[in-house]
Amino acid sequence: MSRIKVGIVGCGGIARSTHVPYYKKISEVEIVACADVDFNAARSLAEDFKIPRYYTDFNDMFEKEELDAVSVCTPNMFHKDPTVAALKAGAHVLTEKPMAGNLRDAMEMYEVSKKTGGILIIGFQTRFRPDLNILKDMVNAGELGEIYYSRALALRRWGIPPKKTFISKTLAGAGPLFDIGCYAVDFTMYIMNFPEPKSAFGVLYTKFGNNPEAAKRGCWGGTWNPVEFEVEDNAFALVKFKNDFTMLLETNWASFIDRDRFGVELLGTKGGARLDPPEIYMEIQGVRVNVKPQDQPPNIDIYEMRIKKFIESVKEGRPLFSPAIEGLRVQAILEAIYRSAVEDRQVPVEWSF
Ligand SMILES: NC(=O)c1ccc[n+]([C@@H]2O[C@H](COP(=O)([O-])OP(=O)(O)OC[C@H]3O[C@@H](n4cnc5c(N)ncnc54)[C@H](O)[C@@H]3O)[C@@H](O)[C@H]2O)c1
Repeated sequence: MSRIKVGIVGCGGIARSTHVPYYKKISEVEIVACADVDFNAARSLAEDFKIPRYYTDFNDMFEKEELDAVSVCTPNMFHKDPTVAALKAGAHVLTEKPMAGNLRDAMEMYEVSKKTGGILIIGFQTRFRPDLNILKDMVNAGELGEIYYSRALALRRWGIPPKKTFISKTLAGAGPLFDIGCYAVDFTMYIMNFPEPKSAFGVLYTKFGNNPEAAKRGCWGGTWNPVEFEVEDNAFALVKFKNDFTMLLETNWASFIDRDRFGVELLGTKGGARLDPPEIYMEIQGVRVNVKPQDQPPNIDIYEMRIKKFIESVKEGRPLFSPAIEGLRVQAILEAIYRSAVEDRQVPVEWSF
């Protein structure tokens, strides 16, 4: 393959901070165009990164450019249309996490990727965390015995994203459940080799984002209008699996806890483990021990890695991480949790794809 021609859809925060700069570091990649409904966003990304052409309609971009690969960096509820259009235009696609703003969109994206044969990868950069992969290897080797329970955690003390992209239901679909809960569900499922879920029971709370004082205080240098805060800011759920495994999910953007948590805890019949910080609990010669790694994990830029691996996937013609089917399965669990909370009952998880 000659130079790999890349296009970007959605020229906001994540495109600017982690997609474009890392594509620029790969010599065989050329970013030829970008698109955003906001003219200024498209133009300034193009100007700042010397991208030759920019568009306000991604369909125009797909018609006029011959793209090999596309990054979709739009708000969750707008992942589907550019992803489907890019695949139909013959490109391979890296779509930001979560896969979509709802399960129906995610299913359509998956179906189109199957039909076109285009690679569709969902950008869960956490897949490259070294500690997580060590834990996955331990689980696969049976070193912790049968894992019967996990706590999947993505918890913040104060981390409400002030942008509408995240707090408007029509743009985001949901709050932390989709925004960061998706990582916790994804890496737990990844470690556990994507077992089939049976049912979910979830609860959602909005306790901070719609509070005028909290909104005025703001977060990460930005404030928001509390009236425009349309999503939950805390979500908790219990997901049961057909193989008798249970996952507790705890995720939020704001809460009174001692520190942010972003990891997983596992209970197995021969041992337990947790990430953040990594620690293993097991028995040696009949004595219960706590094992803490002495070595620092290798220093990997997981954002750089996902762009590199996406380009390697394009070259190899197969997804090298986080394929669409896995993004779809994560979405199915998130959607079941959301529906369960709205309907205030345990619901089955859709899994027929
Ligand atoms: N992987 C990560 O660590 C990470 C971090 C932040 C955001 N994200 C994900 O990236 C996505 C975007 O987040 P962001 O922080 O960059 O948001 P953002 O609001 O900064 O940027 C989104 C951009 O998309 C544009 N847009 C909206 N609808 C569009 C459409 N139909 N066609 C073209 N452009 C459109 C907006 O005008 C805006 O410029 C979200 O899905 C979010 O979950 C991922």
